[in-house]
Amino acid sequence: MAKPDGPAEPRWHRTVVSVDRDAIGHNVRQLSPPGVPVMAMVKGDAYGHGAIEAAATAVAAGARWLGVALVQEGLRLRQAGFAVPIFVSTELPAGSEVDAVRADLRISVHTDDGLLRLADAARALDRPVGAHLAVDTGLARAGVAGHDAVGFAGRLARAGLRLDGVWTHLAKSEDIDSFTARQLDRFDEVLAGLHAGGHRPVLRHAANTAAVLAWPRSHLDLVRPGIGLFGAILNAGLSGADALRPALTWRSRVVQTSRLRAGQGVSYGLTYRVAGPATVATVAVGFADGYPRQLSNRGEVLIRGRRYPVAGVIAMDQLTVDVGDDPVAPGDEVVLIGRQGEQSITVAEVADWAGTIPDEVFCGISARVPRDYVGSPPPAEVFKTHQLGVSRS
Ligand SMILES: Cc1ncc(COP(=O)(O)O)c(C=O)c1O
Repeated sequence: MAKPDGPAEPRWHRTVVSVDRDAIGHNVRQLSPPGVPVMAMVKGDAYGHGAIEAAATAVAAGARWLGVALVQEGLRLRQAGFAVPIFVSTELPAGSEVDAVRADLRISVHTDDGLLRLADAARALDRPVGAHLAVDTGLARAGVAGHDAVGFAGRLARAGLRLDGVWTHLAKSEDIDSFTARQLDRFDEVLAGLHAGGHRPVLRHAANTAAVLAWPRSHLDLVRPGIGLFGAILNAGLSGADALRPALTWRSRVVQTSRLRAGQGVSYGLTYRVAGPATVATVAVGFADGYPRQLSNRGEVLIRGRRYPVAGVIAMDQLTVDVGDDPVAPGDEVVLIGRQGEQSITVAEVADWAGTIPDEVFCGISARVPRDYVGSPPPAEVFKTHQLGVSRS
């Protein structure tokens, strides 16, 4: 398959991300509760892994839905030929409704303005249109308040729209505490209220990765894992988290070695000084590639199967590593995330050093780093040409 997600020629790039499709497929299966379909969340270019390839792999592994945050992300998947339902989790920006409906995207609504704009598009296209009602059960980010859900569903019906789904998003499902239970209780109350009011959504969904693992009562009719598809999770202690397989390896190369005398400084500002005579290796990756500058004097990389500290400030295109007296040479492979020999560096470690979460590290890997795909290619059928109206749910 063509590689639509990065520069076309990974072979001569010195810094390359390699994505293991088999790991994504394995993770889809790990995150599939028995009898509950999976919506593979591939927003943010599949958390930096490449939306088209990751989506194809997830669908080949059994994901029945794809989920994105933005309408343009959904349109891109549809244009790539995916026939499965594609959910867009944020409300459509004004002006995008007709395109979204034409592409048969599954649309979320929670404001009256969004509802009316969607109803206008349905009328303009003279076509029945469904929506998924977003309910805020405690994240306080987007969604109708629980007490307004029945009223909103009524307005939706009066505007001529179908209620296809009702969904919520959890604030801290990675923690085993009472807040998630309270959110799920509120969601149950909303669903009961809708039911009593004569509104029967076909699909109820709430579970992100951590909830798939830790909160079986959140599984409902559809689960929406994202980060776990790529083998990471916020709380690695959750039962089942250790069965997830990292899908991404980020490699670069040593491009120069320099022998420094004791006390000599390295990189901008000379913030790192070698303790004794030492070799400093220059690596062809920097913050323009998305390697976080916060890792200056904090991060570690693997060379020849050993960990070495990032020495000095990370620059836009290069960083420097103190390799002491070891025989490191230009051309040596450097692993920034992933396994090399017996050693590995996880995205969680990198995120910790940078004071952030794995999701941000993945999403930060910039477009100038080509993504290379290994493992079994998905069969061509995952790209069945989409015919509008074929898949309704
Ligand atoms: C609406 C929605 N559902 C599901 C997910 C997936 O969450 P996670 O990456 O924690 O699995 C996200 C991501 O934040 C989301 O915004």
